[in-house]
Amino acid sequence: MLDLTQMRRDYKQSTLDENEVFSQPLEQFEKWFTEALNSKIIEPNAMLLATVNKESIPSVRAVLLKIFDERGFVFFTNYNSDKAQDIAVNPNVALEFLWLDLERQIRITGRAEKISTAESLKYFLSRSRDSRIGAWVSDQSQVINSRQALAMQIAKMKAKFAKGEIPLPDFWGGFRVIPEKIEFWQGRENRLHDRLLYTKKGSDWVISRLAP
Ligand SMILES: Cc1cc2nc3c(=O)[nH]c(=O)nc-3n(C[C@H](O)[C@H](O)[C@H](O)COP(=O)(O)O)c2cc1C
Repeated sequence: MLDLTQMRRDYKQSTLDENEVFSQPLEQFEKWFTEALNSKIIEPNAMLLATVNKESIPSVRAVLLKIFDERGFVFFTNYNSDKAQDIAVNPNVALEFLWLDLERQIRITGRAEKISTAESLKYFLSRSRDSRIGAWVSDQSQVINSRQALAMQIAKMKAKFAKGEIPLPDFWGGFRVIPEKIEFWQGRENRLHDRLLYTKKGSDWVISRLAP
C-alpha cells in the first residue's frame, strides 16, 4: 500500500484575524468568495451539501451555489432526489466550501427550505434550453437501465418541447440554506490554523475563535 504518512504541506498564504473580519458573516463570505473567483480556481461555487436521511444515515454530495445574500445560500435540484427527501424529513444540513488553492474552507450549518416557485422559475428561465430539458429528463437518484434509456428520454422531451417555452417542472427548484453557524478556516503553519466561527444569536452574529 502507498505510505501517505509523510505527505505534508504547510499552509502559509494568509491569516485570519478577528480585528479584520466583517461583523456580518455574509459580508465576509462575499469577500472570500470574490477572492476565490479572482484566484481562478475551478468552480469556486461548488460546495458539499451534507444531509441525513430518516434512518439518520448521512450523505454528502456537491451542488452549485447559485444565489447568496443575507437570507442564505441557494442551490437548485430535483425535489424528488435523495437529498430533497432527506431535507423533507430533516431540514438540518451542512455546507462546505473547500478552496485548497487558497488554504481555506468555509463550513456552514443551517436549515434548508424550498424557495418560492417564482424564484425557481426566474433561475430556470436563465438556463439554456438543453439544461432545462435536462431538468425534465432526469429522475434524479433513481436507478436507470442504461445511458441509452436516458438518451431516449432526452429525445422524447426535446420533441415534446420543440415549440415554445420549456416550463418549470413542479419537481425541480431551489433550496435556501438559512445559516445558523458559519466558520471561516484559514490554514496556518504547523497545523495551528485560524478558525473564526460566527453563531447566530437572535438577530445578531457572535464571533468566536476556535482551537485548530
Ligand atoms: C461540481 C458538481 C456540481 C454539482 N451541482 C449540482 C447541483 O447544483 N444540483 C444537483 O442537483 N446536483 C449537482 N451535482 C450532482 C450531485 O453531486 C449529485 O450527484 C446529485 O444531485 C444526486 O444527489 P442525491 O442522490 O444525493 O440527491 C453536482 C456534482 C458536482 C461534482
